[in-house]
Amino acid sequence: MVKLVVAGATGLVGSKILETIDRKGIPFDELVLFSSKRSAGQEIEFQGQTYTVQELTEAATDGDFDYVLMSAGGETSKRFAPLFEQHGAIIIDNSSQWRMTEDVDLVVPEVNAPKFTRGIIANPNCSTIQSVVPLKPLQDKYGLKRVAYTTYQAVSGSGMQGKKDLADGAHGAEPKAYPHPIYNNVLPHIDVFLDNGYTKEEQKMIDETRKILNEPTLNVTATCVRVPVQDSHSVHINVTLDQPATVEEIQALFDADPRVVLVDNPANNEYPLAIHSTGRDEVFVGRIRKDDSLDNTFHLWVTSDNLLKGAALNAVQVLEQVLELKGE
Ligand SMILES: NC(=O)c1ccc[n+]([C@@H]2O[C@H](COP(=O)([O-])OP(=O)(O)OC[C@H]3O[C@@H](n4cnc5c(N)ncnc54)[C@H](OP(=O)(O)O)[C@@H]3O)[C@@H](O)[C@H]2O)c1
Repeated sequence: MVKLVVAGATGLVGSKILETIDRKGIPFDELVLFSSKRSAGQEIEFQGQTYTVQELTEAATDGDFDYVLMSAGGETSKRFAPLFEQHGAIIIDNSSQWRMTEDVDLVVPEVNAPKFTRGIIANPNCSTIQSVVPLKPLQDKYGLKRVAYTTYQAVSGSGMQGKKDLADGAHGAEPKAYPHPIYNNVLPHIDVFLDNGYTKEEQKMIDETRKILNEPTLNVTATCVRVPVQDSHSVHINVTLDQPATVEEIQALFDADPRVVLVDNPANNEYPLAIHSTGRDEVFVGRIRKDDSLDNTFHLWVTSDNLLKGAALNAVQVLEQVLELKGE
């Protein structure tokens, strides 16, 4: 008897989690949906049944749950994930709250697996997930010396309000999710600024890349940018390898690797695009070029749907991985 919870079921990521659970045929006997007080009572149709969304409270965490998929913000995860954990559940959390906690696993199933030191497993940052998927085969074959990211992140990465700010901004409305208009603009600012001048989003990419790839001293840097695109993040990766390689070898490596889709035919204007990634599960990689300004260095252009591989799909894949590891 598997009791499954989706907490944050009324949000952008939560609704994609439900779609993905359905699409992948994840087995469960009972499903419970939580939101905040705001949406409690809302009815959600799922697999031919009507579910009434319940308010997430401390008492509600004691429901004999097995698996909890949380996408309800950092503060909610901070408060409720340990309570679900105390009551014996495994929590797969989409917020950034637990990602860098030492005994919490940070998992991208194509790259690593949970060790189950704790009941909480963290789903990484969206841009980090789609970046480590192509970095992993490079790490295994050539070794990594340095990674420099520049991201072009869609407004759906800021939840419902981000999408609303882009749509309403076209009619002159003031933004609510951002300090400046996102419509017709580009913001070199995602999440709060830290004392080192980086944003928290940039620091997350740096720290999480090291943790997932299990290379605590890897040289990583990042610049994270919000662009007026509805869905799918694009990431430019400048990667320096330990060993020499050619563009053709890297293309062949990606072409043979089921974890990524190679789209790299510039002569035909074919390269990964945000609009082609939206609604797709895959991580797309292309524009592979040698960076002649540094030894063993290459440029990659990587796109993926931030709500799917960057959030909901990765969380459901972690659940599948957990079910398999636990033999369920
Ligand atoms: N969007 C992305 O691309 C993305 C990617 C990776 C990770 N994430 C993370 O996933 C989480 C959700 O993001 P989102 O984009 O889905 O945001 P969203 O569309 O704003 O949805 C937020 C969800 O959390 C619920 N919630 C808020 N406060 C709550 C509380 N106190 N108790 C219970 N539920 C509460 C909301 O319920 P109500 O309907 O009642 O407000 C709603 O269901 C965030 O932690 C975000 O950082 C998002």
